[in-house]
Amino acid sequence: MKLTRITLAALRLSSTAVATNNILTADKFEADIRTEELQNVLWNLNKIARDNGGNRAFGEPGFRASLDFVLERAQKRFGDRFDTFVQPFNHTYDKTLRINVTGPAGEDVFVISPMYNPATPLPGGITAGLVDTPVDDERGSGCFAEQWDGVDATGKLALIKRGVCAVADKLKLAKEHGALGVILYNQEPGTSIAVPTLGAETIGQTVPVGIIPLEVGENWRARLASRADVVVTLLVDSISETRETWNIISETKQGDPNKVVMLGAHLDSVQKGAGINDDGSGVAALLEIMTALRRYDGFPHKIRFAWWGAEESGLVGSLYYTSHLSEAEADKIKYYFNYDMIGSPQPDFSIASNNNSGIGPELFEEYLVSQGVQVRHGGFDTGSDYVGFVNIGVPTIALHTGAGAPWDACYHQACDDLDNIHWEALTVNAKAAARALVRMAHSLEGVPPRQKTSLNLRTRRGVAESFAKWAAMAEEASHGHSCSHKGKKLRV
Ligand SMILES: *[C@@H]1O[C@H](CO)[C@@H](O)[C@H](O)[C@H]1NC(C)=O
Ligand SMILES: *[C@@H]1O[C@H](CO)[C@@H](O)[C@H](O)[C@H]1NC(C)=O
Ligand SMILES: *[C@@H]1O[C@H](CO)[C@@H](O)[C@H](O)[C@H]1NC(C)=O
Ligand SMILES: [Zn+2]
Repeated sequence: MKLTRITLAALRLSSTAVATNNILTADKFEADIRTEELQNVLWNLNKIARDNGGNRAFGEPGFRASLDFVLERAQKRFGDRFDTFVQPFNHTYDKTLRINVTGPAGEDVFVISPMYNPATPLPGGITAGLVDTPVDDERGSGCFAEQWDGVDATGKLALIKRGVCAVADKLKLAKEHGALGVILYNQEPGTSIAVPTLGAETIGQTVPVGIIPLEVGENWRARLASRADVVVTLLVDSISETRETWNIISETKQGDPNKVVMLGAHLDSVQKGAGINDDGSGVAALLEIMTALRRYDGFPHKIRFAWWGAEESGLVGSLYYTSHLSEAEADKIKYYFNYDMIGSPQPDFSIASNNNSGIGPELFEEYLVSQGVQVRHGGFDTGSDYVGFVNIGVPTIALHTGAGAPWDACYHQACDDLDNIHWEALTVNAKAAARALVRMAHSLEGVPPRQKTSLNLRTRRGVAESFAKWAAMAEEASHGHSCSHKGKKLRV
């Protein structure tokens, strides 16, 4: 009898010892995050892109393969520790298959296509004379009805200068004035032309457009001014159709379901490339954090991971998620961490937060500075998946290392591949993410309550309004100083 009691006590002792070993601590968790494992994930994502036409974009097979890759871990291998669900949603898929502008002497002209560019008649495209829209002032060119006074565009291709107002606004007015299409010339010289979007909501309201270099546009404009006929051909072959896509939401089985700490990264790339920094880097960090987390017990809060779909098409997946949460579900999310582009080759360690981010910025800064990294602070813009969470008032923070040159010259390009990662930056950021998560998994001290919003995000209109609000704020911010690295949804 006595012996049994001793045995039981010993057993109890040893099980306590095991449990103590498995208690989640920041130091242990940080050590679990290893560069080689992050490399392994990104090697796989890069291969997925290579095997699927060079990208992992919304509506493309590479996205589906990326989804399967994450599910193979979250759902299959770690299914005993995490509950995973795949959230489907629809969005308009768009792709320009071919675009050509042929000049008056039959010459091929450099041209780019915006997102949601409607197709011309095929196979020949539109061959027509150009008509100039001569007004070009501080209110832009072709932006307002009165700027079209005296322009007879019927049956013609309108030649318009880019800038000031949305490209789609110019195209709508061109259509109203009878133009068959638009040749839009860039406002800056050269062939490095940023790709704008017309916005999925303009389908059916615009005419086809080709965006050409400033030099070519000015040359044609001068010829029109000297009363010459300038006949050109515009050919656009494009598709746009509804396609289904998915978010992955996966959470720890353990932890209080009323106190959820959430981390998100987008799983899709742009059509142009593999998206290894944007946002394979964030995807890898989350997967490694999940992989490490499954070994631990003894944290009171539930940890929820999100891999978002269709971010590059306008934050579609994350906005779908946040706009479909009930008030009660939204209240349970105590904090949201966003990781998008955290391994830029020339990293600029930036923390985006607002006055509702609580202790988050402090947690990141303390660790990053201890690693000898210089940290920059900024606000939110419309650049990534935090928008939906900020809009519903969930305390939110984002970490990123810069998009576009000099930070990431391969941003949204084919060269955003395995060579486009600063491995130490990615590792230190993933470790910062791991440590901050441990703190919040144990304690929500320093985290403000959710700020209830007056905006109605249950409706399409509500989402559009809140988006417009954020777009306006970002616009304002970019006039002050250009800290908004990401030109998502460039419309002008
Ligand atoms: C997506 O569209 C398809 C086809 O129109 C429809 O069957 C499906 O229910 C839609 N899914 C969602 C989540 O709305
Ligand atoms: C037309 O555009 C395609 C790409 O959109 C390009 O490959 C091709 O060289 C262009 N010119 C002609 C004459 O097809
Ligand atoms: C936080 O920012 C919002 C909007 O920028 C402002 O309305 C609010 O007063 C601020 N709150 C605090 C406590 O500073
Ligand atoms: Zn991104």
